[in-house]
Order: sequence, then structure tokens, then C-alpha cells
Amino acid sequence: MKINHRLMENNFIKEDFDNTINLLKKRNPILTQSKYVELFEKQWSKWLGVKYSTFVNSGSSANFITISILKYLNKNIKKNEIIVPTLTWVSDINSVILNNFKPIFVDINLSNLSMNEEQVLKKISNKTLAVFITHAQGFNGLSENLINVLKKKNIHLIEDVCESHGATFKKKKLGSYGLISNFSFYYAHHLSTIEGGMVCTNNKKIYEMTKMFRSHGMVREAKNQKFENLMIKKYNDISPKFIFLYPTLNFRNNEIGATIGLSQLKRLNINNTKRNENFLYFLKNLDKNKYFVNYNLNGISNYAFPIILKNRNINHRNYFEYKLKKANIEFRRGNAGGGNQLRQPYLKKYLKKENLRSFPNVEYIHNYGYYIGNYPNLKKNKIIKITKYLNSI
Ligand SMILES: Cc1ncc(COP(=O)(O)O)c(C=O)c1O
Repeated sequence: MKINHRLMENNFIKEDFDNTINLLKKRNPILTQSKYVELFEKQWSKWLGVKYSTFVNSGSSANFITISILKYLNKNIKKNEIIVPTLTWVSDINSVILNNFKPIFVDINLSNLSMNEEQVLKKISNKTLAVFITHAQGFNGLSENLINVLKKKNIHLIEDVCESHGATFKKKKLGSYGLISNFSFYYAHHLSTIEGGMVCTNNKKIYEMTKMFRSHGMVREAKNQKFENLMIKKYNDISPKFIFLYPTLNFRNNEIGATIGLSQLKRLNINNTKRNENFLYFLKNLDKNKYFVNYNLNGISNYAFPIILKNRNINHRNYFEYKLKKANIEFRRGNAGGGNQLRQPYLKKYLKKENLRSFPNVEYIHNYGYYIGNYPNLKKNKIIKITKYLNSI
């Protein structure tokens, strides 16, 4: 039986293209970063409930800029550790390593696929500069206790919300709690700008740094005349428009991405509601004897159906994958980022010091966790078709 279910469908609609064509039809349109980028940043900040946002060319660029800024803000060189989850995207870990911090790995909870709080608290030391949480696959990873402990110990909370646009904790959007937060607008996410990402903060100094880090480390990008004058005076042997303060690259996005983002932002809340309805319907119809369903659903904003097999048997897993392929249901094993990052070749050096047995939940997800697509125009009868098929495996 063919079900034909893709990871994502219909993420761009005619209105997005019409708005883009209108931009292109203008006389001498500016297509590199300009007023639509600024407008998208303002509207995104308003939607999220933060003061400032900086539009960049990907979620990984947002990760990298964020951790680079932490490095330059950090006055205590002994604080060189950043606590990270084992279930996340590769760029969350790489942004830590590439900025010469030491990643400290923690396991996850099955109920929200996010960092296990007990392990986070255990691994906090006087070297901990930040906790870089990932709100994986639309679930909230925050708790009152975690926020309070980090505040008390003066440890930065950094949020990766790339997979969870619109998810909330205590009715406030994720991404508005941390010192800095990151979003991705890649194709399959809740909102897409083709490629794109956002760095968000309430801190003006950090905001100005994000704009410099996005654009060659250039002082004029901060758009703070007082600061610029100071720098011009300090570096008076350098052309005033070309003072490069930080070592970075070009992570800018453009007016086409911003136009699509503005167009999509108008329907983000409606789409999130539809996706959540789909997810609850999917869970309701899934066989609880075969699949894990005990998620913490408070504040979710789901964009992909997680499928975690209860039968921990490799032969069964292979059969499950065979059946999905046969029905043409596109899937990914390992949930967020392909499972346990510690198993990836780029982290070989770190694995030597770790025992995989200390990470049982991410190991489980690595081997038996999957996701398939959940998009706004998915119909109830299709969800029934999918769950019936899954329940028959
Ligand atoms: C949790 C997380 N962080 C970061 C990223 C990187 O985003 P991008 O693909 O836009 O670089 C992703 C990508 O999907 C992600 O899922």
C-alpha cells in the first residue's frame, strides 16, 4: 500500500511567491539586506516578545554568532564549559567547539526530548559559562527550577528554538527566556525563508554585536553612532567605514528571504494551531502498546510527528523502516539531528572520555526514534491512514 507522505509539503504558498514577484518587479529593487530585513526583524521580535532580532542566513549561523558573542563577553577565562544536549543539531555543538569552549554533554528526557535537568544540575561547575538548551521537535525544555538555578549561579541560558517556533513555557514563547535565542527558517520548519535564521535578545549591547558578527565584524553595522565615533577615534589610522572589530564572516540574509518571512509570519500562529491539532490527533490514534506516547504536551508547537518504537529490536526496526519505505512514507531516524551526537565521527575525540551508558535515553532515540512530516494542510483521513498503517507494523 502506498501512502505517499513527505517530510514537508506546501511550505510556500502562492501568496509568498506573489509577494516575492512584487519585490522583483520594482524598479531597481535592492535585494541584499535592506529595509525588508529590518521590517521582518521588527515583526519577528514583536511576535516572539523580545526587544531585538537579527536575521541571518541559517540557524547554524545563528548558533555560531551566539556562541562567538559569548566568547567575547566572557571576562572569566576559567569559565570555558558550555553544557549541551546529546540530542540536538550538529551546529549547536560545533559552534561551542569552534569557539574553543568545552562541550559538556547531558542525556535527554523521553517526555520532551530535551536536556535531562538532573544531569544538567550535576554537571554545573565553576567552569560553566552557559547552558545551551535545545527545545527539540516542538517540545518545551525549560522548568522553573532550571531557570532559577542558572540565574542564581550566574550561568547564561541560551535557547535553540530552531525546531519549536511558537512553543511556550508558562504561556510565554520559548526564545524569550534566554540571554540569546536562535531560530532556523530552513524548508521543513514552522516558518521558512528558503534558508535563514534569527538571533534574538533583549540586551542592546548583544544585539549590536549580533549585527556586527553577521557582517564581517564591521563597526558601522552596529548602527550606534556614539559607539562608532568612539571606535573611529580609537582606530584613527583605519578607514572609518571599514573598521573590523571581530574575526567573523558574512552571515547576512537578503530582501527575498525577508519578504517570504514577512509573508509567512502572517499565518504562523494559524499554522501552528493546525499542526498541534494534527499532532494530538496522530497521538490519539497511535497504538500505545507499540509506540511511546507519554510526552509532556504543555506548550507544544509540533512540526513533525515523533515515532518512538517500544520494541527495541534491530530486526523489528529494520522491518519498520522497510515498511515505511514500501508505503513511501518519508522518515528520519534519530529524531532531532539524527540521534546521539556523541556517536558522530566529528566528536570522536570527546567520545573517548564518555561512557555511552550514561546517556540511555538518547541512545534509545538514536536507535529507535523517528519522525515523519506534520504540515498544516494535512487532512484527518490521511493521519488515520498513516496511524492505521503504523499500528499494523
Ligand atoms: C535544533 C537545531 N538547531 C540548529 C539548526 C540549524 O539550522 P539550519 O539548518 O537553518 O542551519 C537546526 C536545523 O534544522 C536544528 O534543528
